[in-house]
Amino acid sequence: IYDDAQAAVVQVAGEIAAAIRERQASGGKFVLGLATGSTPVPLYRELIRIHREEGLSFANVISFNLDEYFPIDDRHPESYHRFMREQLFDHIDMPDEQINIPKGDVPREEVFDACKEYEDAIVAAGGIDIQILGIGRTGHIGFNEPGSGPKSRTRLVTLDRLTRLDAARDFHGEHNVPRYAVTMGVGTIMDAKKVYLLAWGRSKAEVIRAAVEDDPVENLPASFLQAHENVSFILDTASGSELT
Ligand code: F6R
Repeated sequence: IYDDAQAAVVQVAGEIAAAIRERQASGGKFVLGLATGSTPVPLYRELIRIHREEGLSFANVISFNLDEYFPIDDRHPESYHRFMREQLFDHIDMPDEQINIPKGDVPREEVFDACKEYEDAIVAAGGIDIQILGIGRTGHIGFNEPGSGPKSRTRLVTLDRLTRLDAARDFHGEHNVPRYAVTMGVGTIMDAKKVYLLAWGRSKAEVIRAAVEDDPVENLPASFLQAHENVSFILDTASGSELT
């Protein structure tokens, strides 16, 4: 638990930068799992600063984003493709061909195969070294809403009403928020070698408490992280305020 989000992201970005540099030294690729939403924005800002001011290169980084709305065009202002370009990729030196984000614009009948390809690409890259997560008020990680099993893989899911309400402002109305998403599964996330779940603010305090302290249940998918061998919950004082 950190005093504020900025202090927390300085720590996490420093650890990510060190891990990328260590892999560079041995000539290997580093596989980074990324999240969208408001939570990781300060982390991406700090990574961009380290790139500009301290010369961190992302040339050896392969990224896999957690999720994308479905259906959605890549160029839609609220698509996660566009979000990632604006918040991170346009400002660092990661080659385009090393960026992976689930596709929100494939025909419905091709989604199943696209999800399988996404899983295969993660494995082919050597697995995710570090996965960044936020958490939704439903307890979702990625878009694994309540009811998602611990072994779920990348797939098409229906968004929870609360998740669509939380996105309504960005989409200028709930009716504009897509009903579905393509997301890495809980099992996909559990396969990452290291996981950082970030959460800021009072509105996340109760779901953080339940995810950390209650027994793992499908009704709160983030609680499955309790079984991960290398996970850190990175909190500010407000989001950690309900922990006993
Ligand atoms: C985004 C994602 C979601 C968000 C969560 C929190 O890629 O997977 O799980 O992390 O909905 O969103 P914010 O950060 O906007 O509160």
